[in-house]
Amino acid sequence: MRIIESVSEMQQQADMWRGEGKRIALVPTMGYLHAGHLTLMQKARTHADIVVMSVFVNPTQFGPGEDFERYPRDFENDIRLATEVGVDAAFSPEAAEMYPEGYQTYVDVTRVTLPLCGKSRPGHFRGVTTVVNKLFNIVKPHVAMFGEKDFQQLVTIRRMVKDLNMDVEVLGHPIVRESDGLALSSRNVYLTSEQRQEALRLSQSLREAQTLIQSGERRSDIILKRVREILKAGKDMRIDYAELRHPETLEEVSRIDGPTLLALAVFLGTTRLIDNCVLNIP
Ligand code: PAJ
Repeated sequence: MRIIESVSEMQQQADMWRGEGKRIALVPTMGYLHAGHLTLMQKARTHADIVVMSVFVNPTQFGPGEDFERYPRDFENDIRLATEVGVDAAFSPEAAEMYPEGYQTYVDVTRVTLPLCGKSRPGHFRGVTTVVNKLFNIVKPHVAMFGEKDFQQLVTIRRMVKDLNMDVEVLGHPIVRESDGLALSSRNVYLTSEQRQEALRLSQSLREAQTLIQSGERRSDIILKRVREILKAGKDMRIDYAELRHPETLEEVSRIDGPTLLALAVFLGTTRLIDNCVLNIP
């Protein structure tokens, strides 16, 4: 596994691979890898000759008072895990390498970033699209992999790639969960064992919504009422949002008449967790 910290070295290496006719896949991450990340890397391998992961806790996507400083980091372990799944190179720049003095350019996807996480985390997606655009210019991938865990992020990146005619194929991957249903997240380490138990309400409420659809319910307000009941019963749990939206436009849906995104965000104590599923009519 090759570890690259400099932008110019990464670009040179990417040019070399491209010159040899190799197909490059990029899996952008903020590190503290878990099985969800590793699954993306394994899938990337099936689409490319070279798999590059980026490990960069991107300061521009964290708001004031968010967890940038305490975001979990374990670079050595990340390298060990990524090596095991056959990743070829890790691009892991310092913040000053990505945002040197004088930096002033940002990418803003304006509409799909307004609701959901965009509403609760102003500026978040601007930071995400900016760093992902930079990573595309540095790693020069043919294909890039993103998880559906961050569904709005995936929708936003697809929009950016389309709108700015970026020559990168964006692939999504379903959410990887623990056997009890909890979606894997680097932030799960913040949870106490009691909070971790309560966190199961997220996946439980998603399943309940699908059951309601199965039994013929189509009204968004009824489905969301049931979802909120399940979440609210959690001790120490505060709902940030629970919404039904179109999976591509992210516009609000009042009646389910096709695949519909059910997106959730909650605070368990000070930890913010997200989860989602696309509800399908039988
Ligand atoms: P991070 O949270 O580290 O996630 C990296 C990638 O792993 C994202 O595409 C995310 O959706 C995916 N992922 C995380 N948990 C997952 C799970 N349980 N199942 C499937 N995929 C999962 O998302 C980011 O980093 C950053 O915003 C980034 C895109 C790297 C830009 O800084």
